[in-house]
Amino acid sequence: MNAHIKGCTAFVTGANQGIGKGFVEVLLDRGVAKVYAAARRPDTLAPLVALDPRRIVPVALDVTDAAQRGAAAQRAQDVDLLINNAGIGGSEDPAERRFLAAGSLADARVVMETDFWAQIEMCRGFAPRLCARAEAGITPAIINILSVGALFCVVEYSSYSAAKVALAYATIGLRAELEPAGVRVHGVYTGSVDTRISARNPHAKTSPVEHAHEVLDAVERGEDDIYPALGAKEILAAVRADPVGFQRERIRRFRDNPMR
Ligand SMILES: NC(=O)c1ccc[n+]([C@@H]2O[C@H](COP(=O)([O-])OP(=O)(O)OC[C@H]3O[C@@H](n4cnc5c(N)ncnc54)[C@H](OP(=O)(O)O)[C@@H]3O)[C@@H](O)[C@H]2O)c1
Repeated sequence: MNAHIKGCTAFVTGANQGIGKGFVEVLLDRGVAKVYAAARRPDTLAPLVALDPRRIVPVALDVTDAAQRGAAAQRAQDVDLLINNAGIGGSEDPAERRFLAAGSLADARVVMETDFWAQIEMCRGFAPRLCARAEAGITPAIINILSVGALFCVVEYSSYSAAKVALAYATIGLRAELEPAGVRVHGVYTGSVDTRISARNPHAKTSPVEHAHEVLDAVERGEDDIYPALGAKEILAAVRADPVGFQRERIRRFRDNPMR
């Protein structure tokens, strides 16, 4: 069975801007019954909630905060679609994103905590409710927003790539655990989307709204792994064709211009 968007109740992390906000807007367009829009600064959700106060429920949630995660899962008992979207790329200082050049591993640890451990904790927190929804005859789903940076190491953002590839493999492990209970688990290897995180990316970008449609279409088709937004399918093909050569080229570019 594949998940269906119309009529479902969704929960989106990092919903106040970028890809998360795009998901909330598109979920409303596609007829969800309700969407919990979560953000670590709930005041930033006001313009979004104003779009449809009847169906959008604002939630205060820093995904790295265990107490807030627990409260969110407790409050949103009726969720059948969890979108783990919140994420960070790492320090603004390129040196702090390096494993050796960094003054310490503090930034890398924050990236791992946010982009990996917090995402697993969200899945753990919501899994019992999602399984209960499956028992009620609905096909619930988790969508983990990964990145094409999980297909190869983006050496300028090594800690980000390390966290995303860890989450990609964890997504497969979660799929194996949750599928027998009737819960679908999707991994999304997003390409270039026009948001704050991609501000320095010089390539053409997909809008957050178009990205959300691409992902939700693929979820409704039942695709486990999804490659939305500009560049994603091309990078997948290039990595598959020559994984060693593709990665070598990225290391060469980094060596030629290490402070990007
Ligand atoms: N844009 C792209 O090209 C691209 C490509 C591949 C993957 N992605 C992934 O897409 C996801 C969304 O990123 P984006 O592009 O929309 O970037 P963005 O505009 O920077 O949005 C990131 C969102 O995550 C939230 N967030 C960060 N840390 C959080 C925390 N500890 N608790 C709760 N929320 C937190 C941010 O909240 P604040 O507003 O409070 O900071 C913001 O809402 C990320 O997982 C990113 O890795 C993006």
